[in-house]
Amino acid sequence: TKRIGILTSGGDCAGLNAALRAVVHRAIRNYGWRVFGIRDGSMGLMERPLDFVEFDLSLVTGDMLRLGGTILGTINKGDPFHYPMPDGTFRDRSSEFVEGYRELGIEALVVIGGDGSMRILNQLCRQGGIPMVGIPKTIDNDVAQTDYAIGFSTALDVAGEAIDRLAPTAASHHRVMILEVMGRDVGHIAINAGVAGGADVILIPELPYTLEGIANKIADVRAEGRNHALMVVAEGCRTETGSSITTIQSGGEARYGGIGQYLAARLTDLVDAETRVTVLGHVQRGGVPSMRDRVIASAFGVHAVDLISAGRLGRVVAWQHGQVVDVPITDVANITRAVDPFGTLAQTARGLGIYIGEMSS
Ligand code: F6P
Repeated sequence: TKRIGILTSGGDCAGLNAALRAVVHRAIRNYGWRVFGIRDGSMGLMERPLDFVEFDLSLVTGDMLRLGGTILGTINKGDPFHYPMPDGTFRDRSSEFVEGYRELGIEALVVIGGDGSMRILNQLCRQGGIPMVGIPKTIDNDVAQTDYAIGFSTALDVAGEAIDRLAPTAASHHRVMILEVMGRDVGHIAINAGVAGGADVILIPELPYTLEGIANKIADVRAEGRNHALMVVAEGCRTETGSSITTIQSGGEARYGGIGQYLAARLTDLVDAETRVTVLGHVQRGGVPSMRDRVIASAFGVHAVDLISAGRLGRVVAWQHGQVVDVPITDVANITRAVDPFGTLAQTARGLGIYIGEMSS
């Protein structure tokens, strides 16, 4: 009987358990394989004794669809090739991973992860000559080649609901409400939530902006007869001059918690209105997965197992034009899919009169 392994790597998000469930169902029902869930990302194969669970169908009920996070765990203590030791040094622990894989006797590994995890796990699998198939997940939705990564839809719903909840307070108090959403390098959550929630200003790391641009937009809103406004900003945005917020924080100006706080402080006088900031944080990652995340995760899981069965290894499943497809890992590993400044979302936002920054040069 064929034995396959599965692990979740990187930050958690909604829909991971739905993907696990789909892999187990497909592998056991259709192919009669054995499926081993590896705990805590790559850690489960690096530790001795190995840390894993063998799945059977009684463990993967429909309740997994409704469950946020990952039942396998996904702690990330560091890159196995460059593993941080307690004494401050780094060690290459990749051979422990490979030995663990051999000890468990698995013939292929399904990795549910983002672009960084895909690169590292692919390297680990190649080192041991073991095939890997990837399933993309990240609320940031910045995995290349796929329209959707698992977790994005739920995070977007949470961000959109947050705007719905902020709008009445903006209106009642005549305030500018700023919502800081996740998105370390990209603005997919910000631009989608901002368009869906009726924001006046959306700032994303992909586009530079000016404080005057924001202030002018808010003045326009006022001239149109509205005395309040909504702003959405991705956490990964820099200041208007291009400085990173963390640089400013470590430079001693710790009064800014993040880009949202920074903008509020800078804008209060410029826009002559009260500003308030909400930093949404990790509530975007947890909770009950959206229906779309469940559907995408299920389709990804089934297809990943079919790839292994067909011997199509070293590939990542992807969602393109309403279909599940697969692409080579090398087209995905370590590549960030940014918001296209001239794509549909950006043009839609501009078409609605939303300020999304200046055209990049
Ligand atoms: O990549 C997903 C993400 O949620 C980013 O949006 C965010 O910047 C980061 O992870 C937060 O990571 P952590 O959970 O380690 O604080």
